[in-house]
Amino acid sequence: MADATTTETAPARAGHAAAEIETVQAGVPDDGETATMSKRRKKKQEEKRRKHKYTAETADRHLLYELSVQDPETEVDLIDQMWLEQRGRRCLSIREDFCGTAVVCGEWVKRSDDRTAIGVDLDPEVLGWGRERMLERIGEEAMRRVTLLEHDVLSVKTQQVDSVLAMNFSYWLLKTRDLLRNYFRSVHASLVDDGLFLLDCYGGSDAFSEMEEPRELDGFTYVWDQHHYNPITGLARNYIHFEFPDGTEMREAFEYTWRLWTLPEIREILEEAGFRKSVVYWEGTDEETEEGNGEWEVSESGEACPGWIAYIVAVK
Ligand SMILES: C[S@@+](CC[C@H](N)C(=O)[O-])C[C@H]1O[C@@H](n2cnc3c(N)ncnc32)[C@H](O)[C@@H]1O
Repeated sequence: MADATTTETAPARAGHAAAEIETVQAGVPDDGETATMSKRRKKKQEEKRRKHKYTAETADRHLLYELSVQDPETEVDLIDQMWLEQRGRRCLSIREDFCGTAVVCGEWVKRSDDRTAIGVDLDPEVLGWGRERMLERIGEEAMRRVTLLEHDVLSVKTQQVDSVLAMNFSYWLLKTRDLLRNYFRSVHASLVDDGLFLLDCYGGSDAFSEMEEPRELDGFTYVWDQHHYNPITGLARNYIHFEFPDGTEMREAFEYTWRLWTLPEIREILEEAGFRKSVVYWEGTDEETEEGNGEWEVSESGEACPGWIAYIVAVK
């Protein structure tokens, strides 16, 4: 991974998922142990197992990353929605740029046997991890419809696809207008005539602050660390840390230095690169919680909330 670093406290990059190397044994009742005692003992062991499901020593940072920030099922549902609304047909082929473990490619081909996916990433280590897992997750037949390419997205040449995806803000690693425009031009050339380029974007006043945001997950805490922001260059340095119930930590498991692009800038550059137009999908608000409700609609008017995520659909 081009921008990922591990520190002394982080575990080896390749490894087994903590969940899969769990060694706590289920109890076997001794002679004379009653069923109730045995049940209680098993419950205690299960509690202990959950509490120490992951530790800095045993956890795998790629798995933790997937569990923390990726939701391939929802992403694929959203692609289907956007295609239906913007094109009135099913999307069959995708290219997932900056694919990392390529978990979206896997979900894509798993859904239907007429779908294909290409994943592109610079980093052979993360691609190898993804390839191995994908085979276990989706099986050989579906895997035959996935191509993983170790390549720079700026220069990769692939067959034309219905959609190119650039998700989780990875294209923000391209820090100048020229680089971003070159990338968008090359995506434009990689799309079929009615192709759609799908990207995400985040913003709001919090996006420009230096702050840490911890989120409790099942068996570990994910920490998004907006470590440094330089308003003169527009560059932000961010880290992902993981913390575990046994008190150990994986500091700087991932590091990203990227440009904090804004929605209008991105849309202007998409147009400069040849896209006919772009539309923005903005999330609705749950009236009770005042949080996002997971429903996305095309809009030209958003709310100035402290933190938001939006999707851009660029139309060839
Ligand atoms: C933030 S991760 C994204 C992983 C995943 N796609 C997601 O949605 O969460 C960024 C990935 O982009 C890759 N990357 C960075 N620059 C790249 C480039 N110029 N070409 C291809 N891959 C690149 C890194 O190796 C890393 O795996």
